[in-house]
Amino acid sequence: MYRNTYALIDLDTLKNNVKDIVSKYPYKYYIGVVKANAYGHGDYVVNSLIEGGINYLAAATLEECLSLRERNNSIPILCLEPIAHKYLNLCESNNITITIPDMDYFKGLDKNLNLKAHIKIDSGMNRLGFKDKNEVKNVVDELNESSIALEGIYTHFATSGMWDKHWDDGLNNFKEITSLIDLSKIPIVHLGRSLTLVQHKMPDFVNGVRPGIILYGFAQKINEPTGLRLIKRNHYLKKNGISPVSLNNDLNLKSAFSLHSEIMCIKDVKAGEYISYGAKYVADEDIKIGVMPIGYADGLSKNNEGLMVKINNKEYPIVGDICMDMTMIKIDNSVKLHDEVVIYDDISKRAKELGVSAYQLLTSVTNRVPRVYKKEDKFTEIKY
Ligand SMILES: Cc1ncc(COP(=O)(O)O)c(C=O)c1O
Repeated sequence: MYRNTYALIDLDTLKNNVKDIVSKYPYKYYIGVVKANAYGHGDYVVNSLIEGGINYLAAATLEECLSLRERNNSIPILCLEPIAHKYLNLCESNNITITIPDMDYFKGLDKNLNLKAHIKIDSGMNRLGFKDKNEVKNVVDELNESSIALEGIYTHFATSGMWDKHWDDGLNNFKEITSLIDLSKIPIVHLGRSLTLVQHKMPDFVNGVRPGIILYGFAQKINEPTGLRLIKRNHYLKKNGISPVSLNNDLNLKSAFSLHSEIMCIKDVKAGEYISYGAKYVADEDIKIGVMPIGYADGLSKNNEGLMVKINNKEYPIVGDICMDMTMIKIDNSVKLHDEVVIYDDISKRAKELGVSAYQLLTSVTNRVPRVYKKEDKFTEIKY
């Protein structure tokens, strides 16, 4: 690492998060969702997730699946997006399970391939998946006669149904669309993501789950309303026929991700002088600024302007326009050249300040930023 800007990932924290989830929510298959470079943490984390109890991986693209395969040569990997037919030989040779998203895709599939497949059901999101029960029956019948192994069936719910009936409707849609087939003959049935995992007990035919954001420390806890709000909520659920949602949970998860940089240069700025592009920030008194080697090309979006960073546990504001590679902060005399700067270590807080989700914040840190992994107090750097 030649430039002192990096994301620090705590592998023990990730492993403990998975252990906690596995101990509190019993399933046979924990399909860890590690798309987008494991939500920005880097593929390197998969073996820690596996040590914690993840026994299947899922990613969005073939590129991601192949990169994951390099990290672990035996764990099954499900590709959530359909893979163009001409690349399916790579799935055969790398033990990548495919998703069959609809009849058009199925028709184009060479049924002599030696592949594992999961059928996707559209429970209402109108993204990927079958909506017609007869088509599903035909696909299952044909797969049973082919060399493609039907290993799984799944759906993805648009909401967890906290204030709406969509989750209930989605589950009913799944049941209806699969009503002509025998789900007990399909080895893995997986419906839920993090939110649905913690908020709903799944029906008995479900034996797998696809947690994503929760693995990385976001427990999706919402405080149970009390008093009048609770009465109102219960009335609303009853009136609209919404099944109960469990809002709180006793998961003890921690975020494993923090973003760091350093004070690369220190400058004295006189009252009336400006800082950075556009001369928008003008010093109203004599101040000191620190220049950090991190900018929007590293994923520090311009919206971070005015937000706080930490040096030796003290907060300092980002001032002036954030540049492509550098960012300035207003410091005081206690700050020294090369002091470490914690850009953020509380993802939920920073995401809220930026008005984005934890998903967006984590996946916005670019590959220019090396990931440094901490395990049992030892550090390893991985460049992506
Ligand atoms: C199909 C599918 N399953 C599971 C997940 C995991 O979702 P979450 O991170 O909310 O647990 C995703 C993520 O978007 C997804 O697309």
